[in-house]
Amino acid sequence: MNSMQQPTPAQQDLSLDPFWMPFTANRQFKARPRLLASAEGMFYTDVEGRQVMDGTSGLWCCNAGHGRREIAEAVSKQISSMDFAPTFQMGHPLPFQLAERLTELSPAGLNRVFFTNSGSESVDTALKIALAYQRAIGQGTRTRLIGRELGYHGVGFGGISVGGMVNNRKAFGALLPGVDHLPHTLDLERNAFTQGLPQFGIERAEALEALVTLHGAENIAAVIVEPMSGSAGVILPPQGYLKRLREITAKHGILLIFDEVITGYGRVGAPFAAQRWEVTPDIITTAKGLTNGAIPMGAVFVSEAIHDAFMQGPAGAIEFFHGYTYSGHPVAAAAALATLDIYARDGLLTRAAELESYWAELLHSLKGLPNVIDIRNTGLVGAIHLASRDGAPGARGYEVFDGCFWQGAMIRCTGDILAMSPPLIAEKQDLDQLIDIVSKVIKQTA
Ligand SMILES: Cc1ncc(COP(=O)(O)O)c(C=O)c1O
Repeated sequence: MNSMQQPTPAQQDLSLDPFWMPFTANRQFKARPRLLASAEGMFYTDVEGRQVMDGTSGLWCCNAGHGRREIAEAVSKQISSMDFAPTFQMGHPLPFQLAERLTELSPAGLNRVFFTNSGSESVDTALKIALAYQRAIGQGTRTRLIGRELGYHGVGFGGISVGGMVNNRKAFGALLPGVDHLPHTLDLERNAFTQGLPQFGIERAEALEALVTLHGAENIAAVIVEPMSGSAGVILPPQGYLKRLREITAKHGILLIFDEVITGYGRVGAPFAAQRWEVTPDIITTAKGLTNGAIPMGAVFVSEAIHDAFMQGPAGAIEFFHGYTYSGHPVAAAAALATLDIYARDGLLTRAAELESYWAELLHSLKGLPNVIDIRNTGLVGAIHLASRDGAPGARGYEVFDGCFWQGAMIRCTGDILAMSPPLIAEKQDLDQLIDIVSKVIKQTA
């Protein structure tokens, strides 16, 4: 649409006040709103008719790009034939079909699926499964959960307790008791400008042994980490680090949960990061790319052994007192099935691996630009870490993010880290265009 067809906020008489926007500087945004109106392929069109390249797959979710007719048709067909059906003591075929399809993609052994509506719900579900599992196998003293500094696991109380981004925690008082954190793995001194997984930092996994010594293995239920931290600014696992976490957790009977809400569904070059980095956890949380962002849905993958530990007692007993009204929602499941068809047909779950070296070269060509202190990449994810201005952390990152938007590219900023995760349908020239804009704006920003 162009500006002739699409009314501007002023023309629409759009009141910006009532909507309290999430994770947004509301007053700043409303003073100069960045409003999107439509989307197709790699591009958004804003309300003034300007094209904006989607450098972030929406919010790390539209992996197959925008405007996928197959998803729209599947949703529309499903909503007309059955809008909703409960999955508590009732069922309908779609979530069963979807769970089966998903287990064809998931790492071997992770073949039971619990549906949610978001990443936050997937995380809280996974934490509850881990705690209840330990009880079910007679390990009821294992009540502690271990997260990691700078981890992001959504916004539920479970997620913010194991999460490690201070602003997401500090205003909310009482969090879950008995949580501890591993150190994060960002190490600019030793690893700056590494392409792919950094060489240094495997020893940070050993901190888990120290926590086990401190708390006692018999008191720890699970460790949860993002295989690659997305929200905190693309923090990669050092080489060997995830394997080491797996060894230590297995040795002590502690469950390992990978939060793959961002890395799942092809972002790092395989269906799941667990496969890309060859480490199989006990539980994987997902959401976002599951439906290409079109309808909210999450899925938690659980090993058969964990699932089977719940299937005890009388056959008429509910085994796990947990679930959401919309777990396995028919419209969301239809969107997910159509999404999986697209991923399979277009080879999107491995496409990031094909583009990875081109993308890495492009990103790393920005080394040497003003204020750039690190560049990180894996799959089709990249971060450009800018030096903070004295006394104004985050200001430079925000200015580049905002400048990019007005010059035609949507990226993200976390403080002074710029993050990019383009749709997996990107062609090389799209990536060129994205990096061109980002480079220009970095040069323009003091
Ligand atoms: C790793 C991770 N876990 C959980 C979440 C929360 O997902 P949602 O916003 O769908 O609740 C996110 C969102 O970005 C995430 O990146």
